[in-house]
Amino acid sequence: MSVSQVGARSHDGVTLTAIQDPHRPSFHFTSPVGWLNDPNGLCQWDGVYHLFYQYNPDGPVHADIHWGHATSTDLVHWIDAPVALAPSTGADSQGCWSGVIVDDAGTPTIIYSGHNPDAGRTQTCCIATGNADLTAWGKDPNNPVIPGPPPGHDVTEFRDHSLWKDAAGKWHQVMGSGIRGEGGVLFHYSSPDLRAWTFEGTYLTGRDIEPGGAYPGTTWECPDLFTLPTQGAGTDVLVFSAWDEGITLHPVYITGQRGAQNFIPNTQVRHLDYGLRHFYAPQSFTADDGRRIQFGWAQEARPQDAILAAGWSGVMSLPRHLTLNDAGHLIAAPVAETDALRIGAGEAVPAIGPGERVRATTVGDQLDIIARGILAPGGELAIYVRTSSDHAESTVITVAQTADGGEAVLRLDRRNSRSDLDAGSGYDTVELGGPIDISDNGEVDLRVLVDHSMLEIFANGQPLTARVYPSRHDATGVELTVSGEGSLLTEITVWQMAQAEQAERVR
Ligand code: FRU
Repeated sequence: MSVSQVGARSHDGVTLTAIQDPHRPSFHFTSPVGWLNDPNGLCQWDGVYHLFYQYNPDGPVHADIHWGHATSTDLVHWIDAPVALAPSTGADSQGCWSGVIVDDAGTPTIIYSGHNPDAGRTQTCCIATGNADLTAWGKDPNNPVIPGPPPGHDVTEFRDHSLWKDAAGKWHQVMGSGIRGEGGVLFHYSSPDLRAWTFEGTYLTGRDIEPGGAYPGTTWECPDLFTLPTQGAGTDVLVFSAWDEGITLHPVYITGQRGAQNFIPNTQVRHLDYGLRHFYAPQSFTADDGRRIQFGWAQEARPQDAILAAGWSGVMSLPRHLTLNDAGHLIAAPVAETDALRIGAGEAVPAIGPGERVRATTVGDQLDIIARGILAPGGELAIYVRTSSDHAESTVITVAQTADGGEAVLRLDRRNSRSDLDAGSGYDTVELGGPIDISDNGEVDLRVLVDHSMLEIFANGQPLTARVYPSRHDATGVELTVSGEGSLLTEITVWQMAQAEQAERVR
């Protein structure tokens, strides 16, 4: 964003510092300034998309959390709206934590977690109602409507909400929590009016989960329970974020059936995004056209002093369209609207086979890359992004298949994403990745979106979100390689991506 586009905020030194940061994304949503974490209150209301988010306008640290708000008519360009919720006295005096928006007979209603550690160890359930365009909110005078966890359990934390209405019109919600020594838990409540809540019991606990899947953590944050269309009544999907004694580990999902009193899983817990904490606390909503659309929070991977100097922290992922594949695994793709940001027809890069390497003539720190081909047993397809001309800096994405064709694995190597790092520099360069689904004939469909420090990778629908901070100005190249007999990249296209213009940021 150029300084002139900041309009009324151009004299705001903090905002200026943030927008001049070369690592700040241009077509992903970031807060006007300060700190952003979870997406909240996602909905399409009267045709308009609403993105609320955990926000600290006063600095790039997790403190004094507000609900920031932005709207969009195309899921690509976002307009800042006034802050929706700010901490006040009482239940949320130290933060308006995560939550959702439901339609209560025409009244937009926020269900969120009030944070007030002075009043007790855990969070509470609070509500607020909004005006017709969701820009002005009033908190319920009787907050909190659930003052704490059910008695008789030694809980770790207690927060975050997923709601639905049953056929009889009764509201249900699950709240995320953990029971010491037992693991994560979802507590189930019901209500006729969103205000008087009855505790129904535990809806799912760590003990109900078949072992051997992704580690589900000791506390489950941000439960998101939704139904995706499949044959018959559809498949219920439960997403939550695994938290372990203060550490935000990773988002996971489990499929099964939303029972009246319990969630009945039919799978193990699986990783949702191999970027782990870089796609944390996701939330989703159903758009008017029926698509289930999910956003997640990409945490920073640079040291605290660099974050403080930059003046901002946290990126919202692109909105992702979720479906299930034949194996019953979640498949994610950036919503089709994202393509509107592609500049021109894109560069068609020549196809390559085993032992070949190609460099795109298109360069940049805002790119959309598609690479399709065949991965044979023992083969590897690689995309190098943010690559400097001498290769001193490069971020490497590979998809490799074992020699026996048993497993295809996606990997992200960030060890050389930045070349000026000493050991202990505080940049997170941990290798990320995991197995992906692949058909018997080895078809691979790779998409990589590069937006300054933000990286979203989709390999046969398996996402991996991460952050990289190159130090070299020429770390803008894209190269691709293929190895292994029978492996090929037949279709490679590279687009530069436009900035998602935002006329004036409102803090
Ligand atoms: C997840 C989370 C939520 C909480 C919010 C606070 O990142 O810890 O559990 O409601 O962030 O900002």
